[in-house]
Amino acid sequence: DWNMPDYISEAVEKIRAQVGSDEVILGLSGGVDSSVAAALIHRAIGDQLTCVFVDHGLLRKDEGKMVMDMFSKNLGVKVVNIDASEQFMGHLAGVTDPEQKRKIIGREFVEVFQEQAKKQSKARWLAQGTIYPDVIESAGKGKKGQTIKSHHNVGGLPETLNLKLLEPLRELFKDEVRKLGVALGLPHDMVYRHPFPGPGLGVRILGEVKREYADLLREADAIFIEELRKTPFEAPMVPGIDAGKAPVNWYEATSQAFAVFLPVKSVGVMGDGRTYEYVVALRAVQTLDFMTAQWAHLPHSLLGTVSNRIINEVRGLNRVVYDISGKPPATIEWE
Ligand code: XMP
Repeated sequence: DWNMPDYISEAVEKIRAQVGSDEVILGLSGGVDSSVAAALIHRAIGDQLTCVFVDHGLLRKDEGKMVMDMFSKNLGVKVVNIDASEQFMGHLAGVTDPEQKRKIIGREFVEVFQEQAKKQSKARWLAQGTIYPDVIESAGKGKKGQTIKSHHNVGGLPETLNLKLLEPLRELFKDEVRKLGVALGLPHDMVYRHPFPGPGLGVRILGEVKREYADLLREADAIFIEELRKTPFEAPMVPGIDAGKAPVNWYEATSQAFAVFLPVKSVGVMGDGRTYEYVVALRAVQTLDFMTAQWAHLPHSLLGTVSNRIINEVRGLNRVVYDISGKPPATIEWE
């Protein structure tokens, strides 16, 4: 157990000693790790840090605004916000294979980031929110033989950009990163967010990714998350859920929850007309390690409210289903 203020001042000193008066760039995703890394490095070197936020068009609703408000407005961090959705959508057109989609999104991300990094010509360091479990995972990669899903990261960037790596969270576990984030002034709700995959909605839109699908999915997903946060959790404590405290709502009582877009049309009725529109699936799981997971037994009333709201508020969707598959044999994501 460590003392947080001491830890922060040590970490700050270490970063200052390491980078001196150099400039640093960091890819800010809005996720916990890159956010905490950004807050810590900003605490140490202020304006010598520039964050780059790449919007690939496959982010959750209002994600860009949330990141800009929190970092640029509230903390005074320099953030370059790049809307690259056109470029990503263009490269994803016609592509249906999940691994292929991941590769394209990862590759384009590196492209966009590199282009921006070159403009930041004074930067000598690339900061990343690598945490201890990532270090272990990549060390073990060769031994496992194959990776089941290629996870999104920005490997290879430091070499091509000729930058040195700054990874101030390398020794920390996830729960320590979260505590550090809170101590650095990041809001509890942001630090205890569910994980969000690098390829984003790209792997939650089954098959070909289209902007139209992403727009529908973003709305449905936001309604689901809003209702999970709003609905009190009164059941007994779920062992192993890391909300930093006993969960008070269903968002905190689940490990990951999201909507999935199914490019399938089904028939419905609306007023005295017939509709023929798309389906979304809701997924909510509880897990300790994301290697195995159980589907969350959400209250039927909560599911009913979410379904009604999605169908009434999101024109283009007329059916909502709930995923009751465990992992294994299903995975948490649908792709
Ligand atoms: P699965 O679907 O394999 O997911 O049961 C386990 C955890 O990994 C996340 N996930 C990803 N994260 N890039 C990421 O950064 C990816 O391509 C990716 N695929 C899955 C998933 O959200 C869950 O938390």
